Amino acid sequence: MGIQKRLVGSYFVVIVLTVLILEVFLNISVRYYYYHNIEQNMKNQAELSASFFQQYFTEEDLEKQAAALLKGFANRSEAQVQIISATGQLLQDSSGLQQPPISMSDYKDVQAAMRGQIGVWRGENPTTKEPILAVASPLESNHSMVGQVRFITSLTETIHTINQITWLLIGVGLFVILIVTVLGLLLSSTITKSIKDLKQAADQMTLGDFNVRVKKRYRDELGSLADTLNMMASRISTNEQLKNDFIASVSHELRTPLTSIKGWVITLKASGGNNQPLLHDGLQIIESEGDRLTNMVDELLDFSKLDNGRISLEFATVNPAELLQHVGRQLAPRATRQGIHLTLKIDEPLPLIQADENRLKQVMINLIDNALKFTSKAGQIAMTAHTIPGKIVITVEDTGVGIEEQELDYVLQKFYKGQKQSSGSGLGLSISNQIVNLHHGQLKITSEVGKGTNVTIELPIKI
Ligand SMILES: Nc1ncnc2c1ncn2[C@@H]1O[C@H](COP(=O)(O)OP(=O)(O)OP(=O)(O)O)[C@@H](O)[C@H]1O
Ligand SMILES: [Mg+2]
Repeated sequence: MGIQKRLVGSYFVVIVLTVLILEVFLNISVRYYYYHNIEQNMKNQAELSASFFQQYFTEEDLEKQAAALLKGFANRSEAQVQIISATGQLLQDSSGLQQPPISMSDYKDVQAAMRGQIGVWRGENPTTKEPILAVASPLESNHSMVGQVRFITSLTETIHTINQITWLLIGVGLFVILIVTVLGLLLSSTITKSIKDLKQAADQMTLGDFNVRVKKRYRDELGSLADTLNMMASRISTNEQLKNDFIASVSHELRTPLTSIKGWVITLKASGGNNQPLLHDGLQIIESEGDRLTNMVDELLDFSKLDNGRISLEFATVNPAELLQHVGRQLAPRATRQGIHLTLKIDEPLPLIQADENRLKQVMINLIDNALKFTSKAGQIAMTAHTIPGKIVITVEDTGVGIEEQELDYVLQKFYKGQKQSSGSGLGLSISNQIVNLHHGQLKITSEVGKGTNVTIELPIKI
């Protein structure tokens, strides 16, 4: 079932139930109000007549005075009046429809009055079949019941009025249901339209078209879902682009050493191994190019493992100061070759930390490699380390070309190489960031174009 049907359906059920409950309640109230009013009115008349009788007709026999009594009572009421004897025989009837003597003792109200109470009965007029309300009250003389007076009124008018009100209520109820249903349809169509848009775009995306964008109709949850979907599509497009660039550049990178190796092999083959210095040079180059290839492939493998979360770190106690010194010594020759001043400065004793030593070295080498790549001759690279509560902070700062502000958001992404088009694969920072994250640490980069770059790593002392 569609969302619209479900929404409107549930609205409909709720409103129908509400209207139904309200209508039943109102109907019962209206009925109660009308009947209660009439009954009360009749009871008052009956009681008044009874007390009137008690005061003025005390001595005489009821049968004899019945006619006069009836006249007196009927004059003061619009209802039909009956005088009934103590044994339940009809003595007088103002309507003249029922001719006395008839036994009335079958009627509930008459029975109640015979027991000395005020009786009420609702039923049908035996001759006209009209709905009626009858109230009977005992007539007492000298503390004994001598007969009863009975007031009867037709309920036709009342029932008619109640029916009218009922129909009015039903009409209003149906109108309310109609309005709510129409409103529900309108409202839900605004929701389903947005959802349909989203579904359509998502369908396109599953077919591989990431250039579709969802139109944002409202600034609600669905609107933000549209934003998210659009963002996702643009991210996927970018990643796709990056991946293609990467494949192109990796193929290129792999081809360069391979070409050089192939070239040297052909040269050496042609010389037949007779030229010793040539052989030496050639083998040297083949070896270093081979190393370069191995490094590149290692980096790629590493990256794919990290990216799939298939790597687990081997934590051990590591002396960070020693680690930094080691990395510094390892890269010092290259810095000297490039005419760059590489320094390590640790002002305070550093605590031992829990870390994967080799991975951490890899991070430091990546960062210094970047600094060396993007810093020109006579530049400076400074490694420093200090502690803050619970963490140690390592920074690598260079005086190189810097990174543009809009590029800063991307440098941590895999395969991102920036406009400077370094010779690398664009994986160094991405790998480093993942390793630092696996240490529950943080890697932050700040940079200013032309002035230099600062990379900071915060590592927790204890995992
Ligand atoms: N110290 C830095 N100074 C200036 N730009 C930098 C620096 N470090 C990184 N970048 C920029 O960030 C990009 C991404 O760096 P990253 O280390 O991920 O890749 P790479 O160095 O190009 O390749 P790889 O590290 O895989 O050999 C670089 O290509 C460069 O544009
Ligand atoms: Mg790098």
